[in-house]
Amino acid sequence: MKSKHSINFEKISSHERYKVLAGSVVPRPIALVTTVGDDGIVNAAPFSFFNALSAHPPLLGFGIQRGVDGTEKDTYKNIVNKGEFTVNIVSDELVEAMNICGIDFESDVDELTMASLSKEPGTLIKTPRIKESKISLECVLHDAISTGERGDLILGKIVMAHIDEDLIEFKNLYIDQIGLDAVGRMGGHGYVRTREYFDLKSINKTTPTPYLQERNWKK
Ligand SMILES: Cc1cc2nc3c(=O)[nH]c(=O)nc-3n(C[C@H](O)[C@H](O)[C@H](O)COP(=O)(O)O)c2cc1C
Repeated sequence: MKSKHSINFEKISSHERYKVLAGSVVPRPIALVTTVGDDGIVNAAPFSFFNALSAHPPLLGFGIQRGVDGTEKDTYKNIVNKGEFTVNIVSDELVEAMNICGIDFESDVDELTMASLSKEPGTLIKTPRIKESKISLECVLHDAISTGERGDLILGKIVMAHIDEDLIEFKNLYIDQIGLDAVGRMGGHGYVRTREYFDLKSINKTTPTPYLQERNWKK
């Protein structure tokens, strides 16, 4: 058995905590979040401290870091002001554009224009979604939780999903996972594609023991 290197999070710096966390909780899905500022300018920024949190109610959540001086990011300010936002899922063909949206532009810069992405008006909310994204989730703000430190948490309730027609099987709502071609964020500057997809059947207490032995999982 290999020995472990154990790290007490109380005893390391915030940057070190970030590095351990970002390299351990992987792969993380990437939300390219669109919001609207007070000046009406559409903002887009990627967030990978992000996931689906609940289906009933349909909640997703993501974490927004403040600057070292406590400055809030535009995404946070816009969501709290307008009470809504859209999560656009990042497929492989969108990674370069997503990376441009991650640049720390001034508030009056429309990142979508900078990244040559187009807007599609929102349906149930006023925030536009990204036309090139294969799946966009319109959300209303469920809660904004301040931790009192540098990380704020946003919880959004999904009110509408827009999914590329050729990706969804209408009857069973099965979404073509290979077609979606989502990318995930790893530690450091790493990313991962999701093309090496596999199915693993759920098993339960009644699954015959030979099945477990046949799988020979403990190699
Ligand atoms: C792949 C990727 C993932 C990111 N994830 C996060 C995150 O989870 N939380 C965060 O605060 N910033 C994250 N960032 C950085 C923000 O996208 C960046 O600070 C952006 O400029 C914020 O824009 P805004 O000020 O318009 O909200 C990420 C950047 C990239 C490229």
